[in-house]
Amino acid sequence: MKSVWPVLLILLLTIHSKADDNDGIESEDGDAAKFYNMTYREQQSALEKKIFYNYRNNRRPVRNVSQPTTVSMHWHVIHVSVNANEQTMTLHGHLYMSWFDEFLVWDPKDFNGVRTARCKKWQVWQPKVRVINSVSGVNSLFEISTQGHALLEMQPDNRAKVEIYPTFSIKVGCLMDFSDFPNDVNKCNVAVFTTEPMSQVQINIYYALPPSLSFAWGDQSKKRIISDFNVVNITNNVVYYSEGNYTELAPIVENELSQTWTMVMTTVVFSRHSPFFFAGVFLPNIIGTLMCVLPFFIDSCAFASFTLVSNMIILSIFLQDAFSKFPLATKGVPKSLIYYDVLLISTTVALLIHIVVMFATAARFPLPDCLNPRPFF
Ligand SMILES: *[C@@H]1O[C@H](CO)[C@@H](O)[C@H](O)[C@H]1NC(C)=O
Ligand SMILES: *[C@@H]1O[C@H](CO)[C@@H](O)[C@H](O)[C@H]1NC(C)=O
Ligand SMILES: *[C@@H]1O[C@H](CO)[C@@H](O)[C@H](O)[C@H]1NC(C)=O
Ligand SMILES: *[C@@H]1O[C@H](CO)[C@@H](O)[C@H](O)[C@H]1NC(C)=O
Repeated sequence: MKSVWPVLLILLLTIHSKADDNDGIESEDGDAAKFYNMTYREQQSALEKKIFYNYRNNRRPVRNVSQPTTVSMHWHVIHVSVNANEQTMTLHGHLYMSWFDEFLVWDPKDFNGVRTARCKKWQVWQPKVRVINSVSGVNSLFEISTQGHALLEMQPDNRAKVEIYPTFSIKVGCLMDFSDFPNDVNKCNVAVFTTEPMSQVQINIYYALPPSLSFAWGDQSKKRIISDFNVVNITNNVVYYSEGNYTELAPIVENELSQTWTMVMTTVVFSRHSPFFFAGVFLPNIIGTLMCVLPFFIDSCAFASFTLVSNMIILSIFLQDAFSKFPLATKGVPKSLIYYDVLLISTTVALLIHIVVMFATAARFPLPDCLNPRPFF
């Protein structure tokens, strides 16, 4: 009774997809009965044996060693975090890479029409990708995951397309300039390269696609704000490193290739996200300015002095608190901070003028007309 099921299944499949694919069980060459008699494990290990029997994962997978291997790379970024104090940026995501392997070959006809297979990443040759400007020290070896799977897809031209997509978590240092706060825009580069020169391995950007971003799912997929920063855009470009120079022009001459390495530069542009700037910094400064200027129009010198003293207290307590959250200034002091300093000095000077005027009036010292306290209105 049991043996009826495979036959039924074969019949069903033949009826359903008669005209479609000519491989596997419908194929003239395939031996359907034999395949359906094999267990899953038998089929898998037969394929694995076929692929890896003579395979060496440290041999670059080309039959003609003069031909370089081209690795397509795509960055999928799922998080960016910027540490303004440390001046570092950490990028998390998946690094998709694919290339063709001329030794990982099998004939789908021999394996029930199986065209794609999965294996452990270490089993296949892969380009050695390193981060140039990492700040993680010894941990930088683990910034691009070595675990995971490789997807093998047999191509019609007798070679396999290998795809891997390891996760990465890369921390790099960059020079950030916050002197334009709160309108500061900064950019940070993550540069990776292969240890093999261009005569062996070349990297290109997968279909020239810019890095894709997905900081959140579903209706939040438009999210671009992380902490104090708004990620403006992320771009990729390939640069060529040769004899200590970087250039965007690819080398052409054969013997230049062995002296040149490809690098992929991923540039993140981020701007400040500071929604509380108006309420937290701008408005207190304006009120402080008014409280510094208006006392000059007050009739009573004592009352004006009290107002100025309160202004000083307000400025130092409240604004000091607001300004303690300012980013570090590596290049210049933000304009609003300079304004605050000028305001504090002006208030002190205004207070001193009022005190001097008060004492001078009390001592009946002849003051110039403009300094004589008298009602304005
Ligand atoms: C299926 O497997 C059984 C047991 O291994 C064997 O006796 C039989 O001949 C096989 N049938 C075919 C069609 O290979
Ligand atoms: C290997 O590749 C080089 C460069 O493309 C070519 O000149 C050479 O003829 C190839 N050799 C063979 C045996 O195909
Ligand atoms: C990314 O943003 C920066 C700053 O706004 C801009 O200069 C640059 O042209 C943008 N790049 C792309 C590819 O949109
Ligand atoms: C590298 O740059 C330096 C200085 O700009 C220049 O003198 C040198 O010729 C360059 N080397 C190459 C190989 O382009």
